[in-house]
Amino acid sequence: MPLIGSFTPPGDKSISHRLILMSILAEGEMLISGLSNCEDVKSSLGAFRTLGGLTSLQVDGLVIKGLNREVRTNEQIDIDCGNSGTTMRLLTGILAGLSGSFRLDGDRQLRARPMQRVADPLIQMGAKVETDNGRPPVTIFGSKLSGVTCRINDASAQLKSAVLLAGLSASSPTTIVLSSSSRDHTERLIRYWGGRLASDGLTLTVQPGLLKLPRRFLTPGDPSSAAFFLVAASIISGSRVTAKNLLLSHGRTGFLRVLDRMGAKVSLTMESDTPEPTGEVTVTYNGPLHATEIQPDEVPSLIDEIPILALAATLAEGVTIFRKVDELRLKETDRLMSIRHQLGAMGARVRIEGDDLLVEGPTSFILPTQLDSGHDHRLAMTLVMALKAANAKVPIAGLESIPISYPDFQNHLDSLWSH
Ligand code: S3P
Repeated sequence: MPLIGSFTPPGDKSISHRLILMSILAEGEMLISGLSNCEDVKSSLGAFRTLGGLTSLQVDGLVIKGLNREVRTNEQIDIDCGNSGTTMRLLTGILAGLSGSFRLDGDRQLRARPMQRVADPLIQMGAKVETDNGRPPVTIFGSKLSGVTCRINDASAQLKSAVLLAGLSASSPTTIVLSSSSRDHTERLIRYWGGRLASDGLTLTVQPGLLKLPRRFLTPGDPSSAAFFLVAASIISGSRVTAKNLLLSHGRTGFLRVLDRMGAKVSLTMESDTPEPTGEVTVTYNGPLHATEIQPDEVPSLIDEIPILALAATLAEGVTIFRKVDELRLKETDRLMSIRHQLGAMGARVRIEGDDLLVEGPTSFILPTQLDSGHDHRLAMTLVMALKAANAKVPIAGLESIPISYPDFQNHLDSLWSH
């Protein structure tokens, strides 16, 4: 059965985290419309409140009051980041230059994720950050920071953001030399909120300063959530799906460029550009897809969409190669292994060669007795769509992880599926 219709995806998760957490470093009051309602963003809201931040719910959104860098300091503050790597990494940078001591912890999956690469450049700036052998919990003793010039070799927007946000509280400018570009929401928000940030190719320099909240912020829709339906439309015959109010920044829409290359019909209408490009996207089934090669410099722009793109690749003619995707080993699960095992269990030919992922299609699906997402929300949604594409029903373990990023996933699926 095809997927047909239009839907409005939840507010972008990356931007929602930043709206909340960067308010710690800002003055003023802002009404946010369309904030993501997912579990990860609730972790950021919980952290903001634990630090003394005030929010109030109104009919058209959430009002948030900037903390002006003044967080509760009377005792060590324990913050539960839940499953959210973004909450933990951005907060580490934000808190490093404030007064107080803080201990950031999370669930079993988050406790297995690397934190040392965030701690290292901050320590270079004078921060006191301790990890447990490079992993959470992370303890931060707020201290005076000085601006430095540092090189970041990992293509991680979270890492870049942590250093930029620490730089806002340093005593002199901080320069980051990046090895590759990645989503730029932190940079855009710093500028939009009155901060001073200069960029020259892959070099960024942020000046110390307090941010100023705008009166209103309208959160654009999350492409990483919409991708499950847009990619599914490209592989399920007869489908046509429109995502409205979608964030369309270049650093987040790599999956649409790849779908287009693979032969899907992708049409895009840009509606506004400030502070983030936003518009409407329609994907129409256009016959079987063909394989493509995804280059290393494209990977950051589609990092969270690789599981669902790998599913599309299982149905495409030829070998699709995702080059240098080792960052996937550091996500909620080792996503390279989860993709290989779970799509492999459905009969797909998936190989890992060094840091590359290779998927050979087209696949004639076979059905295992059960699939297992390993409690990884993006894997869980990929497997739901895989079963839709295979027109089959098999239990999937770990579906309860889906609200970590997309609480309305099932409702949107029902509305597009039962037209
Ligand atoms: C994110 C950056 C990416 C992405 C994550 C959200 C962000 O992680 O996978 O879901 O909001 O900055 P990395 O920066 O570790 O690649």
